[in-house]
Amino acid sequence: MANPSLLILAGDGIGPEVMAEVKKIIAWFGTRRGVTFDVTEDLVGGCAYDKHGTPLHDDTMAKAQAVDAVLLGAVGGPQYDNLDFSVKPERGLLRLRKEMDLYSNLRPAQCFDALADFSSLKKEVVAGLDIVIVRELTSGVYFGEPRGIFTEGNERVGINTQRYTESEIARVARSAFELARRRNNKVCSMEKANVMESGILWRQVVQEIHDKEYPDVALSHMYADAGAMQLCRWPKQFDVIVTDNLFGDLLSDAAAMLTGSLGMLPSASLGAPMANGRPKALYEPVHGSAPDIAGQGKANPIACILSFAMALRYSFDMGDEATRVEKAVEKVLADGVRTADLMGPEGGTPVSTAQMGDAILAALDASL
Ligand code: NAD
Ligand code: IPM
Ligand code: MN
Repeated sequence: MANPSLLILAGDGIGPEVMAEVKKIIAWFGTRRGVTFDVTEDLVGGCAYDKHGTPLHDDTMAKAQAVDAVLLGAVGGPQYDNLDFSVKPERGLLRLRKEMDLYSNLRPAQCFDALADFSSLKKEVVAGLDIVIVRELTSGVYFGEPRGIFTEGNERVGINTQRYTESEIARVARSAFELARRRNNKVCSMEKANVMESGILWRQVVQEIHDKEYPDVALSHMYADAGAMQLCRWPKQFDVIVTDNLFGDLLSDAAAMLTGSLGMLPSASLGAPMANGRPKALYEPVHGSAPDIAGQGKANPIACILSFAMALRYSFDMGDEATRVEKAVEKVLADGVRTADLMGPEGGTPVSTAQMGDAILAALDASL
């Protein structure tokens, strides 16, 4: 059988720094577990613009469509802020999501015991937290037409359009219900049906799919603003949250702080099944290119490493190996190994990105 194939797009800023640690783990799987991945690397984001004048070359897009899974670091940076909108680094990532049709973005927020004291919220609010935000990723206000900056009379007007079709809502709802059945069987859907027609349709379709196909799953609805409040007040009331593209972006950054740091949150962006039965997929940390710490060896590689663990689970049917990686992360955190973003006000000596990766490798070795 052919080796599983992976396209690595490390991107900009801390992207290549955190991805270097994932590459060590991929190599570890080859030498210690006999699992060899066919790895190809390419450019996305600002670095692709610097080389090709576009944040995603067509050849790279074609490679992404052909592999079993894509692993992405991060894109963007202040040096690209004034580029034309069409070639901004972020457009490369959005093109990947859209053309691969990765409509279901799983963003788990799990609070490791060792970090329960470190969250900005009280320990009892976050200890043991394990929720997943399912963010719709290929539609909504990110892609709706009309969009643009136009002139109206003697002033400019910026326009974006929130647009959702019934089938777009239905497929992400199914993805959330399926996930809930494998977890604690509870879905909370978030929109603003009180002020947006797209929110009214969202609520109706989620309810219909539930009643027809998933009556066994407990479903509730919440306005997204109240949901943000509840996420901070008592996040453990949730199991799976399903929401649209923009609300999911905001709610998942907020959820990151429940776990201690944005540097901890992985994600899986999944599409329709391919010929091998596994979903088309891209895995990436929730965080960005972190220009403020890029190039200093300070970045926390755990979000990217846990994203690779999600790839093992969802693209390569290696759930046990995914758990092995997650347990290794849990072990180093329990041992008190901390990158700078995980240091509290009391201080301490942080480890570097590479030292965190090495500690996780040592924990993997110890797991054999
Ligand atoms: P960011 O996520 O890059 O950084 C926010 C804060 O979190 C910064 O203080 C940063 O130092 C810290 N941080 C993020 N990841 C960290 C890690 N792994 N370890 C330690 N600290 C970490 O968000 P931003 O500053 O708003 O955006 C910077 C650039 O990244 C922008 O160009 C933005 O568009 C882009 N971005 C890209 C992605 C992506 O590629 N998926 C996601 C979000 C933002
Ligand atoms: C994310 C990011 C992206 C988004 C940007 C970089 C396009 O913030 O993945 O959360 O807004 O979706
Ligand atoms: Mn975001």
